[in-house]
Amino acid sequence: MQIRPFAEQDIHSVYAIQLECPEAAQWKLDDYLELAREPGASILIAELDASPSPLIVGFAAFQHVLEEAELRNIAVRPSHRRKGIAKALLAHSIRSLWESGAKTLYLEVRPSNHEARALYASAGFQLQYTRPGYYQNPVEDALVMSLEIPRPSRP
Ligand SMILES: CC(C)(COP(=O)(O)OP(=O)(O)OC[C@H]1O[C@@H](n2cnc3c(N)ncnc32)[C@H](O)[C@@H]1OP(=O)(O)O)[C@@H](O)C(=O)NCCC(=O)NCCS
Repeated sequence: MQIRPFAEQDIHSVYAIQLECPEAAQWKLDDYLELAREPGASILIAELDASPSPLIVGFAAFQHVLEEAELRNIAVRPSHRRKGIAKALLAHSIRSLWESGAKTLYLEVRPSNHEARALYASAGFQLQYTRPGYYQNPVEDALVMSLEIPRPSRP
């Protein structure tokens, strides 16, 4: 598997993964293209070697302003879960955020999203506070979590 930056031709694969993952933030197709063009934003793609062409199996979208970064979206194809793909996307992102000077990575998650919460807990995120009634359809609080971005362990 390789983790690489998003290219505009990835857009339909990324959008298809989002549609397969209702727990992910549900954006319009163009939202990804707009985010990818914003300064400080990045979308990473997880891609497997496959025949006849590589298969995109996950993505993560980040935004970085000064010392703070936010994980805006992350999703892995249901058929490829529990194989370390999200962990690899997060590790790659955390390394590149550290290199670009970010100190803290924030995210929001539904309390009912146990898979994502397990992922974030395993990556060292800690609960900061709750935003009551933040999500719609269905209405639910948001857990705001953060991670102090660690210095990469390898050069
Ligand atoms: C959350 C999500 C991205 C995890 O992707 P993934 O590639 O399956 O996660 P990984 O295989 O990298 O898991 C890394 C660790 O996270 C935890 N974890 C992930 N999924 C888990 C699950 N279903 N149950 C328990 N722990 C889980 C485990 O600690 C796991 O390590 P382990 O497999 O060695 O035990 C995936 O379930 C997904 O796409 N969900 C829908 C979209 C979504 O919820 N996005 C987040 C919105 S806030």
